[in-house]
Order: sequence, then structure tokens, then C-alpha cells
Amino acid sequence: MDVRVAPSVSRSPEEVGEADSRIEARVPTLAHVPDHEADIERILISGDEIQDCVRKLGERITADYDGQDLLLVGVLKGAFVLMADLSRHIRLPLEFDFMAVSSYGAATKTSGVVRILKDLDHEIEGRNVLLVEDIVDSGLTLNYLLKNLRTRRPATLEVCALLEKAGVQQVPVHIRYRGFEIPPVFVVGYGLDFDERFRNLPYVATLKPEAYQSA
Ligand code: PRP
Repeated sequence: MDVRVAPSVSRSPEEVGEADSRIEARVPTLAHVPDHEADIERILISGDEIQDCVRKLGERITADYDGQDLLLVGVLKGAFVLMADLSRHIRLPLEFDFMAVSSYGAATKTSGVVRILKDLDHEIEGRNVLLVEDIVDSGLTLNYLLKNLRTRRPATLEVCALLEKAGVQQVPVHIRYRGFEIPPVFVVGYGLDFDERFRNLPYVATLKPEAYQSA
């Protein structure tokens, strides 16, 4: 993270110490979730790799939609982290909306059942819509959402997903903006949870087997 600090001018050591601790408090470190760290088996994608990838995705999207209207639709809850980071790398006027769906519950395998828990706040007819997802696993959620949104007649409808699990899709999915392909293992972090935990980890990782037992 790029933290810029204005040069200090004639400050007492106490004042400097105070300022430094305020700066430190703003910088996310892995140590701020030590309880989660203990459950991590292996980091698959580091925070730096994710940030680099998200920046590049943002640059591509900026170029592709230059001069056009663009509405980002985040699929809650998992996509909220990607949505926040990605949107700040898209240098265009943007609008935001969210849908909340559920397919996993507290289990680690997809059920294939997709429920809409929250629908869009606004109409999308004639709009350029970019659906933002954290992960595509079976593809059933995305397939359902795309079919559903197409009936609302957007001008364009594309997908940005940070992760795609290799070789497990039960339906064909087209992800125009994809971050990483990962092996078909259960992962947490960067928005992805196990039993609602681990979403705030800055990286994508697998969990130790014992982490599942404590749920
Ligand atoms: C995850 C993820 C996708 C979906 C992908 O959501 O965010 O929406 O599963 O799985 P699929 O390709 O097999 O359909 P989840 O249901 O875990 O909800 P959450 O985002 O609230 O954690």
C-alpha cells in the first residue's frame, strides 16, 4: 500500500510518536487477524498478486468502456472486496448496484440451489452491465444470474470474476474479465468465506482440515 506522509515540521517526539502510531493503524498487516492466520494451510494467491491483477483488470475495463455508461453489479456477499478495489481502478464514471444470492450456505460444496436474497435497486434496460463475482465454481450462480439479468434487456452484459475453479463448471460460462484460474479446492480470503469468516484476508488461501471441524 502506498502511504504518503507529509514531512513533519518541528514536532516534539511525543507528537511524532502519536502520528506514527496513527499511520501504522491505517496500514493493513496480516497480523491484524492472527486467529485466522492459524487456520490457513497455504496461500494460493498473495495480496500483491491480487492487487496487481485487479489493477490490470481495471485498466482493461477502462479501455473497453471508454466513453460509455457502465453499471457495476456486485454479487454479495463475496464480491464486495473485489468490487471496492476494482472500481477504484476503473477510471470512468460508474454506477453501482448489488444483488445478494446464496448457493453455499455454511457448507464447502456448491448445492446448485440459487436463491435471490436481494434484487437490484434499479432497472438495467439499455445499460452496460458488468457483473462482478469473487469466484465461479460450478457456474450455476453465474448462469442463473446472467439468464435472469438478460430478461431485463441490458445493452450489454459481461462478467468480471477474480477466480475460476478449473474443470468443475456444470454449465458453460463466459468470463470476459477473469483474474486467476485455481485448482478445484475450497478457498477463503479476499471476500470468500468459510462460515462467514476469513473474508477480510487480503490473499486467497486454503484452510487446514481442523479449521472446518471447529465450525
Ligand atoms: C459463492 C460465490 C459465487 C458462488 C459461486 O457465493 O460468491 O456467488 O458461490 O458458486 P457456483 O459457481 O458454484 O454457483 P456464496 O453462495 O458462497 O455466497 P457469499 O458470496 O455470500 O459467500
